Amino acid sequence: MAEIEVAAFEELKEGRPLTKYVDLGDRLLPVLLIKLGGEVYALEPLCPHAKWPLEVFGVFTERGGAKVVCKIHWGVWDLSDGGGRFKDREAPRLRTYKAVVRDGKVYVQL
Ligand code: FES
Repeated sequence: MAEIEVAAFEELKEGRPLTKYVDLGDRLLPVLLIKLGGEVYALEPLCPHAKWPLEVFGVFTERGGAKVVCKIHWGVWDLSDGGGRFKDREAPRLRTYKAVVRDGKVYVQL
């Protein structure tokens, strides 16, 4: 598993998502970063339900654990493990990555 630097910690503002791109050599992988309660989470930037951008349509909250609520169809995903739910059923899993903050930099494990 590779650990790749994606941002400076100071770029992240509490509760405000930021999309970064990881150069994989043959393509750029978009990763959405969000700082909540001082923790940094990394995830795929598009809602796993119908692919609307979570940077625009996601509401990030710490209530009941770090979550993102997509305002398009009101799916809710846990930022720790990517598990998701709609009101009455399970939602497709959100891809998440482990984020590590070290020496003022944010790394994601891919
Ligand atoms: S597109 Fe996000 S819940 Fe449907």
